[in-house]
Amino acid sequence: MEVVIRPDAQDAARTVAGIVQQALDEGLGTLGLATGSSLLGVYRDLARRHRHEGLSCTDVHAFLLHEYVGIPADHPQSLAAVIRRELADHVGLDPARFHPPSGTAHDPAAEARSFEHRLAEAGPVGLQLLGIGANGHIGFNEPGSSLASRTRLKTLTDDTRRANARFFGSIDAVPRHVITQGLATIGEASHLVLIATGPHKAHAVAAAAEGPVTAACPASVLQLHPHVTVVVDELAAARLEQRAYYRCVARHKPVGHRY
Ligand code: GLP
Repeated sequence: MEVVIRPDAQDAARTVAGIVQQALDEGLGTLGLATGSSLLGVYRDLARRHRHEGLSCTDVHAFLLHEYVGIPADHPQSLAAVIRRELADHVGLDPARFHPPSGTAHDPAAEARSFEHRLAEAGPVGLQLLGIGANGHIGFNEPGSSLASRTRLKTLTDDTRRANARFFGSIDAVPRHVITQGLATIGEASHLVLIATGPHKAHAVAAAAEGPVTAACPASVLQLHPHVTVVVDELAAARLEQRAYYRCVARHKPVGHRY
């Protein structure tokens, strides 16, 4: 795992967008997308690169990490709609190559299995973008999620529903259930890139990167993956014990090093 500390959230977002651009330039076939405020800066920078620097996602398949159950894809807060609005419409992503789980499937468990099948056919994901919840979740794998989990129906914690209430107007309007890729599903991507910014993420980032590998902090499973880049701003890095080492690594990058 490489931990990259940037001065601020904007710089962290630019770094992650740069990693995506490099992967696209090298022929990335399948991109994994997440939602959340932390990724909005990344998506804005990708849109800018599309407008001014020729970045193109035309040939890429994109898979979404999760979707709310009971929320149709055209609902403004469906995670598929968020990705269309914030990213897909601005980087030339082909709607036929955008694959969110369906939140309105009659049988969510069957939809989860079918999503795994679609992912296996188009995958593996070359680059997976991730945010992290203040409780250490990735995707919607809440604490206690099996480290071997696959795409499935999950119940959100009230903390997560509260954190997402700002998008729905009130906590009561936030769905209780989601379909989310599992931790083992996420781990099949070749390169995982997690962005976290702000002081409210400092505890989760430290637990994920330096704490024990445990279902109590689902993001700690990233320690078992061979290629992970964690990009944080100074505020989210505040509780990392190995901060000095991460900075030392950044100062002494071997020639030709890439994330
Ligand atoms: C949300 C989503 C995640 C996201 C995380 C952090 O609930 N399920 O995909 O990465 O929590 O979100 P934010 O960046 O808004 O803090």
